[in-house]
Amino acid sequence: MSPQKIIIDTDPGQDDAVAILLALASPEELDVLGITAVAGNVPLSLTSKNARIICELAGKTDVKVFAGCDAPLERPLITAEHVHGKTGLDGPTLPDPAMPLTDGHAVDFIIDTFRSHEAGTVTLCTLGPLTNVAVALQRAPDIAEKIQRVVMMGGAYFEVGNITPTAEFNIYVDPEAAKLVFAAGIPITVLPLDVTHKALVTTERNDAFRALGSAAGIAVAEMTDFFERFDKEKYGSNGAPLHDPCVIAWLLKPDIFSGREINVEIETGSALTLGMTVADWWRVSGRPANALFIGDIDANAFFTLLTERLARY
Ligand code: BDR
Ligand code: CA
Repeated sequence: MSPQKIIIDTDPGQDDAVAILLALASPEELDVLGITAVAGNVPLSLTSKNARIICELAGKTDVKVFAGCDAPLERPLITAEHVHGKTGLDGPTLPDPAMPLTDGHAVDFIIDTFRSHEAGTVTLCTLGPLTNVAVALQRAPDIAEKIQRVVMMGGAYFEVGNITPTAEFNIYVDPEAAKLVFAAGIPITVLPLDVTHKALVTTERNDAFRALGSAAGIAVAEMTDFFERFDKEKYGSNGAPLHDPCVIAWLLKPDIFSGREINVEIETGSALTLGMTVADWWRVSGRPANALFIGDIDANAFFTLLTERLARY
């Protein structure tokens, strides 16, 4: 079978970086058509640079990396340096990228890619705020029916929120964009905090990355060393959650996840619950399902997969 074509829309971020490494290490299953950077964890100038730093770490300097939107649809940008550090990739010392950005805007790349491929043959993986995707859908509504699926890290139900008491970061940064994406009639898989908070990098798991001895393995361990302090302090958890790699892992091994087809709506009106993913887990609203909302993960299988793939570098 030919590999699944994907676009990775991302705001690296250490966990985004691990997701990109996982995807680029899996060419039998995944064909990365391009990486589109968006403002999120850090401003666009850094996310578009960080995406290239990671491609170079992976030895994949031919991957197309586009810069996209530098601010949410209707709101000022909120960033997360308190989690990811000033550069977004704090932890390891990695060289500035030599590879250039690909000419053109990320949104144009997304539109052109879906228009030039047969319907249902390209999947969009989103690891950050949904601004690029929403702008693409606003400008080219015809692509909605061509997108095979959006597989996103975002939202929460049982875990409720991380950036506010009721909202997860990616959705909170651009709730209007998220609302538009969930209303577009596209098949969606959601990897929420409910799942990613179970994908914890324990000391043992991080030692396994470090023991790979490669530049990529050591960088992943050092990135985790850096950003785990935040979640350990906040949640008292056993290690850092690897949010974004869950998106790629769902494509590689869907069997290690379980979830429900449910209705998910995004709160954009309330100051108190702005960006909340109102997920009808118990199916009480009568509203039609618009997403596969994942609730559980076999964390050991996930880390086995990740370590195995990182060992290819
Ligand atoms: C999400 O927000 C970012 O900080 C991470 O990269 C991840 O995509 C988790 O809420
Ligand atoms: Ca991210």
